[in-house]
Amino acid sequence: MNLLLLNIFLIIPIVICLPNAIKIGGLFHNGELYEEIAFRKAVEKINNDPTILPHSKLYVHVERVTLHDSFDISKKVCSLLKSGIAAIFGPQSSHTAGHVQSICDTMEIPHLEHRWDYRYRRESCLVNVYPHWKTLSKAMVDVIGYWNWKTFTIIYEDNDGIIRIQELLKTFGQTSNSITVRQLGDSEDYRPLLKQIKNSAEAHIVLDCSTTKIYEILKQAQQIGLMTDYHSYLIPNLDLHTIDLSDFKYGGTNITGFRLINPKLTNDLIVEWANNSDLNLSSINVQTALIYDAVHLFAKALNDLDTSQKIDIQPLSCDNFDTWPHGFSLINYMKIIEMKGLTNTVKFDNQGFRTDFILDIIELSMTGIRKIGFWNSTKTNGVNFTRTFNEKQQEIEANLRNKTLIVTTILSDPYAMRKESSHLLKGNDQFEGYVIDLVHEISEALGFNYRIQLVPDHAYGSFNKRTGEWNGMIRDLLEQRADLAIADLTITFDREQAVDFTMPFMNLGVSVLYRKPVKQPPNLFSFLSPLSLDVWIYMATAYLGVSVLLFILARFTPYEWPETLTGEKIEYQFTLLNCMWFAIGSLMQQGCDFLPKALSTRMVAGMWWFFTLIMISSYTANLAAFLTVERMDSPIENAEDLSKQTRIKYGALKGGSTASFFRVYKL
Ligand SMILES: *[C@@H]1O[C@H](CO)[C@@H](O)[C@H](O)[C@H]1NC(C)=O
Ligand SMILES: *[C@@H]1O[C@H](CO)[C@@H](O)[C@H](O)[C@H]1NC(C)=O
Ligand SMILES: *[C@@H]1O[C@H](CO)[C@@H](O)[C@H](O)[C@H]1NC(C)=O
Ligand SMILES: *[C@@H]1O[C@H](CO)[C@@H](O)[C@H](O)[C@H]1NC(C)=O
Ligand SMILES: *[C@@H]1O[C@H](CO)[C@@H](O)[C@H](O)[C@H]1NC(C)=O
Ligand SMILES: *[C@@H]1O[C@H](CO)[C@@H](O)[C@H](O)[C@H]1NC(C)=O
Repeated sequence: MNLLLLNIFLIIPIVICLPNAIKIGGLFHNGELYEEIAFRKAVEKINNDPTILPHSKLYVHVERVTLHDSFDISKKVCSLLKSGIAAIFGPQSSHTAGHVQSICDTMEIPHLEHRWDYRYRRESCLVNVYPHWKTLSKAMVDVIGYWNWKTFTIIYEDNDGIIRIQELLKTFGQTSNSITVRQLGDSEDYRPLLKQIKNSAEAHIVLDCSTTKIYEILKQAQQIGLMTDYHSYLIPNLDLHTIDLSDFKYGGTNITGFRLINPKLTNDLIVEWANNSDLNLSSINVQTALIYDAVHLFAKALNDLDTSQKIDIQPLSCDNFDTWPHGFSLINYMKIIEMKGLTNTVKFDNQGFRTDFILDIIELSMTGIRKIGFWNSTKTNGVNFTRTFNEKQQEIEANLRNKTLIVTTILSDPYAMRKESSHLLKGNDQFEGYVIDLVHEISEALGFNYRIQLVPDHAYGSFNKRTGEWNGMIRDLLEQRADLAIADLTITFDREQAVDFTMPFMNLGVSVLYRKPVKQPPNLFSFLSPLSLDVWIYMATAYLGVSVLLFILARFTPYEWPETLTGEKIEYQFTLLNCMWFAIGSLMQQGCDFLPKALSTRMVAGMWWFFTLIMISSYTANLAAFLTVERMDSPIENAEDLSKQTRIKYGALKGGSTASFFRVYKL
């Protein structure tokens, strides 16, 4: 008996919680047929699924609303609320969504949206399954960062587009990247804009526009030649997979985009829908997939809430601002649910934004749209290209096969020369040389054809800072008149910025060659050269000055006079000639047989000896240096010496790398 009672107590709360019929409201604009069908199909699916809401059935109440009529929509929402509903889905347009949101917020009715929204904050009763633009912009930033685009052009359509691209500008605008931003005009003819882009020789384009315009823009780009092997497009529109791009798949243009939906699940759904109705869809767009997921999310949350509290649904009136007591709990349940949907993992962060989702990175290939990698929103740099290096290599080779490439080169022995022959030669046969053989071998290995074309201005390629233009082969490459250049072209920093180089087939540096200076026979007076003429003259003057000073001082002082104690006559020593002899004797470090005795003359002599000591030592040192330096001296040691002097004349080939080296060097 006790056991039975317990059983009844355990079972009863589960059984009676939810009403049997739960009504949900959907607001759709005219033309949103597929969204509405997806909404109904999702409800149908849930009602047939015994694991979700097993004891209740969902009923839909769909209202068609006009685009800009907010009075009409308020009225319809109020009448929906009056009939007692558990949630409101839609609408798509931002003009009307605001009203619906404020009403739902007041009445605490869950509001589920599946539209792009620019706002940073979400209202408390709102769950939006569309990923936030900031997260989507980060995917763009990461991919462009991964590719390392140095320059690119952004084409956007409207104000929403500006919001989406502002992360790109913020990230790449501060670095050295050059970004051009252009807006699509109102007219249907985008050719003038595209022509401007073509003239700017831009290769990388980010195209942010509505789904309906993408095909037309790409078509017009193709018409004016902006869809070649050299161009890459990044199209952040999440509906890129729904567009038929088969017209562009053989052009070799690199069209990359993102996909939020899981194609395997949506394809199953398409088959299922086609089977039990005459609905024939080729693909499901992201809005349709999102509303399908939103209904599932709501049902799951309701199912979970059902296990914890008793829920009843009551009619609410817009006039007296009643609130639904379970609204917030239901919203909170939706925010903590993690489920797999058509858009992969559906999960929210604490602010109510989609998080932890995966975007497929898709690319147009010859076989159609193909997944080449994915982007993980949780990681800081979540780009992961799953294509291996080998696959990429094979793809490039397959692309090259049977293509005819234009190869530019320059006549320069022995790399490329004209063949001498008595016959008239045509095409590639006119040329021979090392690089001609090389390109021939490469073409055999990779299976492409080529046509050799001499560069019209006979220059290798140098950058003119004034005009900002290249010449020579580099210009041919940049203006896409040639596909590759093969020549004895030096890899320089400037050229590396403009074009891509392969590994060099030869390594050379700039070297200067000149004749060794011939050694001259020594001059008769070369012993004088260690000291300059001035020094010699000063020395002679000092010699004379000291001699005279000594003579005069000796005359004045009594101590230099010989003593005549015995009265005999003794010769006076400090005559002028003797003084000069004394000075020269000490200069030559030989000494003399008489020496001064008085204090004054001794001071002069001492100073002179000190002077001679310094003089002789420096002369000896200079002489030794002079003799050795003459053997080692070389006038030019490096490029700086060469550019500093004018005695030796030198030149370089115009437009070559050596010429630009010296031009930059002298600046
Ligand atoms: C497409 O463009 C990107 C960036 O420019 C490049 O990394 C990638 O290899 C290109 N893919 C193909 C198939 O050429
Ligand atoms: C299509 O519907 C029929 C019955 O209506 C069913 O037998 C068949 O399995 C369905 N096929 C698919 C692919 O759902
Ligand atoms: C759907 O349309 C495609 C062509 O657009 C056709 O091949 C296919 O048979 C159609 N399927 C149904 C069920 O009508
Ligand atoms: C995405 O990144 C997070 C964090 O690094 C990781 O836990 C998760 O497994 C990743 N998802 C996929 C599909 O790689
Ligand atoms: C990319 O994803 C693959 C699995 O799909 C994983 O093995 C690899 O480690 C990932 N690479 C990076 C750089 O995260
Ligand atoms: C390239 O051309 C050859 C001969 O013209 C042909 O046999 C081969 O199938 C072509 N290859 C491709 C990939 O088109």
